[in-house]
Amino acid sequence: MTDASTRPVTLRAGTRADIPALTAIYNHYVEHTVVTFDTTPFTPAEREAGWFVHYAPAGRHRLLVAETSGDVVGYATSSPHRPKAAYETSVETTIYLHPDATGRGIGRILYAELLDSLQTEDVHRALAGVALPNDASTALHERLGFTALGTFREVGRKFGRYVDVRWFERPIG
Ligand SMILES: CC(C)(COP(=O)(O)OP(=O)(O)OC[C@H]1O[C@@H](n2cnc3c(N)ncnc32)[C@H](O)[C@@H]1OP(=O)(O)O)[C@@H](O)C(=O)NCCC(=O)NCCS
Repeated sequence: MTDASTRPVTLRAGTRADIPALTAIYNHYVEHTVVTFDTTPFTPAEREAGWFVHYAPAGRHRLLVAETSGDVVGYATSSPHRPKAAYETSVETTIYLHPDATGRGIGRILYAELLDSLQTEDVHRALAGVALPNDASTALHERLGFTALGTFREVGRKFGRYVDVRWFERPIG
């Protein structure tokens, strides 16, 4: 991938055609990091059926994609926090960039747009769980108005070790 910092970032709703690129980005973090607690990589078909189908261009649950010069370089989502009805105004947000596209301001642009887009929806709280350590994600959440609520200690186990998750919240609307 060429240097994304010199190219403008385009944001748009994710489409079915993005699934292979988005799956490859996610699988990198599945296979090599504790950023996600999934442990087995997905095929694009599995990702379509179990993940992509839950998103719509508008509404509380969105998939926003970042591109530079036609390359998909990352995505951000808002998803249900908990299934019970009274939680419906709360969403969980997350973001994944291609590993070659990090540290260039793309995350801030993409996540800010996702959060802004929720202002017009019936969303009251955004929540995000960050597996520790993750200095970039922690800085991004704090930069975009999230407040750390606390840390769930050793709630995940991956690569033979336990992992903490710090939860963040941000008012929406
Ligand atoms: C986390 C992630 C989305 C951040 O996006 P990014 O484009 O790399 O970050 P940006 O360049 O937009 O920087 C956002 C802020 O984080 C800071 N930051 C970026 N990388 C950092 C790092 N490695 N350590 C500390 N701070 C960092 C920047 O200085 C900036 O803060 P500022 O605006 O106050 O100066 C991206 O690094 C990523 O996809 N990481 C892997 C997947 C992941 O961890 N996803 C989050 C799951 S909770």
